[in-house]
Amino acid sequence: MNPPLTLAEVAQNPADFATRLWMATGEQIILRPLIPSDVEMLARFLAGLSAESRRLSTFSGYDRATALEMCHAIARFDKLRLAVVALGEGEESIVGLMEFSFDLTGGDILRYAKTDYPLDPATDCRFGPTLADGWQNRGLGSRLLPAIWEIARRFGRSRVILWGGVLADNRRAIRFYEKNGFRHVGRFVNGDGQECCDMILSLDGP
Ligand SMILES: CC(C)(COP(=O)(O)OP(=O)(O)OC[C@H]1O[C@@H](n2cnc3c(N)ncnc32)[C@H](O)[C@@H]1OP(=O)(O)O)[C@@H](O)C(=O)NCCC(=O)NCCS
Repeated sequence: MNPPLTLAEVAQNPADFATRLWMATGEQIILRPLIPSDVEMLARFLAGLSAESRRLSTFSGYDRATALEMCHAIARFDKLRLAVVALGEGEESIVGLMEFSFDLTGGDILRYAKTDYPLDPATDCRFGPTLADGWQNRGLGSRLLPAIWEIARRFGRSRVILWGGVLADNRRAIRFYEKNGFRHVGRFVNGDGQECCDMILSLDGP
């Protein structure tokens, strides 16, 4: 078996981790690791998120400074960010960000310890998906997941939990996770007083 991938290896050869697909409408999509030169495109993606998308999927900011921070963080800490890039007529745009953290929080570990799914920091990871408003609810998220999980497996991960859980009123995301094999683990109230659901996926099957 190959040793687990590292963030540095992905950053050195991002093209090796790219996947291409086509929407039924003919639009071409590439899923690939975020790269340092993505700052402007990423800033446009963040700035374009609606208030509702920002409520459902929260970032530390929605401006160029946040994009710069994310691009500076490539291969430095615990996060792997995959950009969903749409190819228009000769023009690329980021239309989604799929984020992994290979570091669990103390809060995650404590919450899950009280359930039938105690976490293992060596083989579990956190995941958070965000698509641009115009790309939500078109089946794109579900089509991207197999390639995303393949990358997680190559990092030696066998289970995925939701990053910060999912807001209990985010019915579309909960349906999305359920239909893609996640199980409900429990509920909790986050630091902002919002009711959230913990969900977990085994990458080795049920
Ligand atoms: C969550 C997200 C990544 C899912 O990706 P997606 O491409 O929109 O998902 P899909 O189209 O593959 O699946 C959505 C499913 O939800 C269903 N759905 C849509 N609105 C719904 C609602 N209000 N209630 C219940 N189900 C709903 C769709 O019908 C579809 O299920 P189906 O295939 O059985 O018909 C994307 O919608 C997104 O980025 N949302 C905003 C940010 C967000 O919520 N992120 C998650 C934070 S935890």
